[in-house]
Amino acid sequence: MTYTPVHEPARSGEFPTGVSMQPREFSFTDLESIPQYWNLDNPVLTHFENAFSIMIPPGERFFIESVRHYRGRVTDAEGRELIRAFVQQEDLHGRAHDAFNESCERFGIDIERQRRYAERTFARVAKLLPAKVRLGITVFSEHLTAVGAHTLLTNEDAASEMDPQMLEFWRWHAAEELEHKSVAFDLFHKVGGGYFTRMISVLVSVLFLAVPMVRIARGMMRDDPHQPTRDERKEAVAFQRKILRQQAPMLLAYFSPRFHPWQIDDTEMLQDWYRTGTLEPVG
Ligand SMILES: [Fe+2]
Ligand SMILES: [Fe+2]
Repeated sequence: MTYTPVHEPARSGEFPTGVSMQPREFSFTDLESIPQYWNLDNPVLTHFENAFSIMIPPGERFFIESVRHYRGRVTDAEGRELIRAFVQQEDLHGRAHDAFNESCERFGIDIERQRRYAERTFARVAKLLPAKVRLGITVFSEHLTAVGAHTLLTNEDAASEMDPQMLEFWRWHAAEELEHKSVAFDLFHKVGGGYFTRMISVLVSVLFLAVPMVRIARGMMRDDPHQPTRDERKEAVAFQRKILRQQAPMLLAYFSPRFHPWQIDDTEMLQDWYRTGTLEPVG
């Protein structure tokens, strides 16, 4: 077993039946044995996923702080428990990604430099933007991760050629992202966040976070002595296009003023993940 429940679960009466937030600790069986190009054996796809992984620890801390900022406005026991479990899950995700990221140093990639750049990026966003937009960025990021999680847990293509340890790692993170996908969204509405701020936050997220992620991926590709071949680049673009086509309806759903994360029902795939991990569903 590589994931162990470490805190009490939490759930809301608004969650679908059989879904609860269980913070679990993930530990790799053997980090050193993960191949450099763990994602479809493709350097471009792997460097982009690794860049995402570099953004995750400071990103999770940013999300935690954006939610914590409004903790005083949540007075009911259930709401406070959801925030507690959200913070615990995101904190554990950040730690596991730190462990994985550090292990990539062995391929000659300057991880420390990229890590510091990602830290500075989130620190700048935290300093420049008001609390409501910071929470809006969290809400949008949670939607993106939930859509990614949905793809990973349902799409055999996305999973079939991934290194087994990495697949297990990302599936653990994906499942917990689905469990808590409505927490920041519901908090945003509870504290008066409206459609306009939610949309502004999309724009800000793209400008402040997507651009740095591409820069990190490029930096890591520059450090790598193996430069991607034309075929590897073509394969990466074709794969990404295919995934994006599958994700488009879920991504676009966010732009409806009536959107709510649980409109996309992930209950079944969560139940599947509980079953394959022989985990007892809670709630
Ligand atoms: Fe997370
Ligand atoms: Fe999350």
